[in-house]
Amino acid sequence: MNTNLSDAAPRPDNVPADRVIDFNLHQPVPGGKSVHEFWRDMIAKADHAVMWTPHNGGHWLVTEPGLCESILADSDHFSSRVVIVPRDPMGETYSNFIPLSLDPPQHGPYRKVLNDNLGPRQVNAMKDAIRDLTVELIAGFREKGHCDFKEDFAEQLPVRIFMKIVNLPEEDLPRLKYLADQFTRPDGSIAFPDVEKGFRDYIGPVISARRGKEGTDLITRIANAEVNGKPLSDADAQNLSIQALVGGLDTVVNLLSFVFSYLATHDDLRRTLASDPAKIDEAMTEFLRRFPVVSDSREARQDIDLDGVTIRKNDMIMASTIPIAMSEESNPDALDFRFDRKVRRHSVFGRGAHTCPGMHLARLELKVVLTEWFARIPEFRLAKGAHLSFSSGIVATVDPFVLEWDV
Ligand code: HEM
Repeated sequence: MNTNLSDAAPRPDNVPADRVIDFNLHQPVPGGKSVHEFWRDMIAKADHAVMWTPHNGGHWLVTEPGLCESILADSDHFSSRVVIVPRDPMGETYSNFIPLSLDPPQHGPYRKVLNDNLGPRQVNAMKDAIRDLTVELIAGFREKGHCDFKEDFAEQLPVRIFMKIVNLPEEDLPRLKYLADQFTRPDGSIAFPDVEKGFRDYIGPVISARRGKEGTDLITRIANAEVNGKPLSDADAQNLSIQALVGGLDTVVNLLSFVFSYLATHDDLRRTLASDPAKIDEAMTEFLRRFPVVSDSREARQDIDLDGVTIRKNDMIMASTIPIAMSEESNPDALDFRFDRKVRRHSVFGRGAHTCPGMHLARLELKVVLTEWFARIPEFRLAKGAHLSFSSGIVATVDPFVLEWDV
């Protein structure tokens, strides 16, 4: 954890001194821990269910799983107008995009446009394309006996599939991925208004060109969608498309990286799945519990008393999906992968109205990848001398790592 509080916001008078915790979401994960281990330890040590950190503009931090779940779903008291810390300028810039920044009831009609195009039926129609690309990518490195898992695989498969879903050319990928990553793990190389401008300059002409056209891709569907009986304005069509791009370009990549880095370092589990692929479905339920990645916040709509403190109107409060699954109260031995859990408590795809519309796609991709990978590379390991490191952020990730296997 960062111990340099020089960028710290002053403690407001509604924050008691014993609520302060030194937590900075955008700092590297300290002490050689994994992101999940770090959160598990932090919440175990926290003195209260609601803490406050001076970093990233100063915000509340919920450490208790039930409270995280209820805040994510409670749009009456906690707005999703801004979900990202720091609020200025990162969160405010992101609040221009929809549907996440809208609260019910405004949220529903916009969200329907995504539901209608990312539901199980539409996603299942992509299954062959997902399998073909998985097989092609693996064929590209299998005989070499090694790959950079993120660069050669995890950053290829989901984002190239997503580019098919939105029908955008693959050569535009690096530009879009760079912009999308600024909202999850910003690297300071570009100002947030320029990130927004970069997206709008790119997507605006695409939407104009697809207005009135036939087509089943997500952006054509958005460009021609009606909301509340009226065509979407240019701004709304852009805002919806940009949020779908950000959601689609940086989440499955990271889930796959967590899963495969874990498999490479856990021999029994890897060998179980290699010898009995029928267990992949069951394993997936535990992978989704074990590897939540998203840490979003909410903005208080009015003063509210919570856990013995007063949250003031407009205060930011982080209700990350990570403590929901990493608390020992939710899942005993939370860091262990266990097939035999009677209950699995997690909210990897969120809670309430904003629960992820991309979850069917994410699940299908994970299933196809595990199935096809184990059929071709059943035994693999971290490259000799490699060690795993992790980056935190709005979406957590594993830093690049090399896998190797015997050819
Ligand atoms: C492993 C993969 C994924 C994870 C873990 C994930 C997680 C989440 C979570 C936790 C939320 C709720 C955020 C909140 O309430 O503040 C969310 C919302 C969202 N996700 Fe995903 N997501 C994944 C994949 C995707 C994909 C592939 C897409 C695009 C196709 C996508 C698009 C979105 C959008 C547009 C929202 C906002 C929904 C709304 O406001 O109604 N996500 N996601």
